[in-house]
Amino acid sequence: MTKPLKQIHLAAHFPGVNNTTVWSDPRAGSHIEFASFAHFARTAERAKFDFLFLAEGLRLREQGGQIYDLDVVGRPDTFTVLAALAAVTDRLGLTGTINSTFNEPYEVARQFASLDHLSGGRSAWNVVTSWDAFTGENFRRGGFLPQEERYSRAREFLATAGELFDSWRGDEIVADPVTGTFLADAKAGAFVHRGQHFDIHGRFDVPRSPQGRPVIFQAGDSEEGREFAAADADAIFSRYATLEEGQAFHRDVKKRLAKYGRRPDQLLILPAATFVLGDTDAEAEEKAREVRRQQVSGATALKHLEFVWNRDLSSYDPDGPLPDVDPDVGDQHIARGRAQVRMYRDPLATAREWRELAEANNWSIRDLVINTGNRQTFVGSPATVARTIDDFVQADAADGFILVPHITPSGLDEFADKVVPLLQEQGVFRADYEGTTLRDHLGLAHPDAVGGDERAAS
Ligand SMILES: Cc1cc2nc3c(=O)[nH]c(=O)nc-3n(C[C@H](O)[C@H](O)[C@H](O)COP(=O)(O)O)c2cc1C
Repeated sequence: MTKPLKQIHLAAHFPGVNNTTVWSDPRAGSHIEFASFAHFARTAERAKFDFLFLAEGLRLREQGGQIYDLDVVGRPDTFTVLAALAAVTDRLGLTGTINSTFNEPYEVARQFASLDHLSGGRSAWNVVTSWDAFTGENFRRGGFLPQEERYSRAREFLATAGELFDSWRGDEIVADPVTGTFLADAKAGAFVHRGQHFDIHGRFDVPRSPQGRPVIFQAGDSEEGREFAAADADAIFSRYATLEEGQAFHRDVKKRLAKYGRRPDQLLILPAATFVLGDTDAEAEEKAREVRRQQVSGATALKHLEFVWNRDLSSYDPDGPLPDVDPDVGDQHIARGRAQVRMYRDPLATAREWRELAEANNWSIRDLVINTGNRQTFVGSPATVARTIDDFVQADAADGFILVPHITPSGLDEFADKVVPLLQEQGVFRADYEGTTLRDHLGLAHPDAVGGDERAAS
């Protein structure tokens, strides 16, 4: 018997603080005006995507006191944007990244439960522990937490939020059949949590929401991050979008589930992915090269290199050769508020490898960054891109993708119009929504369902 085809999950990532967005393109629009968010969300919903995704960056990225030259320098608050989007969409899931290091469980649980009510069961929470002490300086608690403590706080944060979501679960709540208002007895919303990070008690004031709990995403990649996801998440926002890396990550994480009493289908793996479409594969390749040059200016290339070299390289010519000094491997890192701090675990080896590559190909600093940086994941004609995405999902490199277009907000339109119909024809992507909640779209059981996820029953 042949294995049934896996259904692909697709989501749309509204780009945040980054150099993905190509500002110089005349089609590029605002990252602040609601019209941009609304256009993006409506396209995703028209294409029957599972959800819209917002990352979180609570401080602009900088190096040597300077903001990156191509970064988006503004980002409105996640809950405000998602609540507004709930009003202009009907089915699209709404996923917000909110960190567990600088927030409080009561406040965050209340916000997500409210969003779940207002959207009719479409909210999801991407729980991250956040980047660095530099970001922490924004908050009155100040500072940061070491890795181990961040995850211990994250675990307890999520468990506490779960207790709050569940504080309205039970027979004590009845909805008045005439007015629809909730009538509650003395137990409704009551909670007590006494733990290492949180010692709180009170009464949660948002009744149980349509999904019971929001869908939980996780994004960290370390050992601690992967265990956290295996124990507590419904989905992972991952960075591994190539076939081999995706398969390795998929295998690694799915095999961790059993020890938490969970099945592999209870955790979805959804890498971030970019795309460039053309009428032919060759045209798309040409466009992708152009987009990369627009995303990596000379100044961006130098900053990227400084990131690995961990020293000031501003006197170098981005169109010239790589520096012959070695990276500084001290504890202090030059980049602040930036994602990939842990990406280059051995900067000396990376520098050696890059020098060899640059010499062999006669690349300048900018050429090297363009050719080794995050390259577009799916490049080709709509038929090629549809086939490749399907191949990756069927080969368990992912369960779907969170797409990040390089034009905001219209960059998703072409994908919706040209690639989605092909996936639908291939029978691997829904022709219409079958349910109303995000759990329905993702094939995840409601926490109260019999045979649902064990975590929710605990
Ligand atoms: C794919 C991916 C996306 C992430 N997105 C965010 C984000 O939007 N906001 C944020 O503060 N941290 C984000 N994180 C960072 C994590 O919260 C975490 O702090 C960081 O990855 C370090 O933890 P780790 O060592 O477990 O990877 C992301 C991490 C990964 C791997």
